[in-house]
Amino acid sequence: MKNVGILVSGRGSNMVALLEGMRAHEIDARCALVVSNVPDAPALPKARSYGVSTAVVDQRGTRGAGAREAHDRAVDEALRAAGVEVVCLAGYMRILSAWFVEAWRDRLINIHPSLLPSFPGLHAHRQVLEHGARVSGCTVHFVDAEVDGGPIIAQAAVPVLPGDDEDSLAARVLEQEHRVYPRALQLLCAGRLRVDGRRVVVEAEPLDAPRSLVVPPPRD
Ligand code: GRF
Repeated sequence: MKNVGILVSGRGSNMVALLEGMRAHEIDARCALVVSNVPDAPALPKARSYGVSTAVVDQRGTRGAGAREAHDRAVDEALRAAGVEVVCLAGYMRILSAWFVEAWRDRLINIHPSLLPSFPGLHAHRQVLEHGARVSGCTVHFVDAEVDGGPIIAQAAVPVLPGDDEDSLAARVLEQEHRVYPRALQLLCAGRLRVDGRRVVVEAEPLDAPRSLVVPPPRD
């Protein structure tokens, strides 16, 4: 049973999906700590309602050289004190320092609301619509030094429909986020992911596993 830490900044719907997966024993893990950089993030009371400890590492007043790493060291300290072994970013709106990324390499994952490597960074849905892409989706990936650039663990695709705006597309993608993030975390906690260069190999995945628009499939 792995000890998971979740970093949040906002409403925390992906955090809730992960906590639900743990509660239902679909993820072989327990959440040891939720950390927010935003003191009034709606995710924090939601985490507490699951009986999970929370901490705030406030970013106010931390500008200037070295501030990013200093902030991340405080987050790291809280995570280690709670015995965290795996970290999930769930709407964490801060760029991590190279130091933090290295300290948690191969144990730090993120979800991004596009089919990476297309449309990294902010306003993914806006970018998708501006480019007239016909398909979008979400990606769970290991975090490396490049923003939204690490090895891909799982993806789910959805259509972009005529008439979509950012909100309608975001809602369609979010539904898939809540399916693939728990699945990806379970694969990591079960020790089934191996990083091979910029690719992730899913161990013990049947070669004839059905190929759907959710990869790896929700069940195997
Ligand atoms: C999600 O769309 C996630 O992909 C992105 O930020 C959003 C966070 O939403 N990284 P929530 O806080 O999990 O509801």
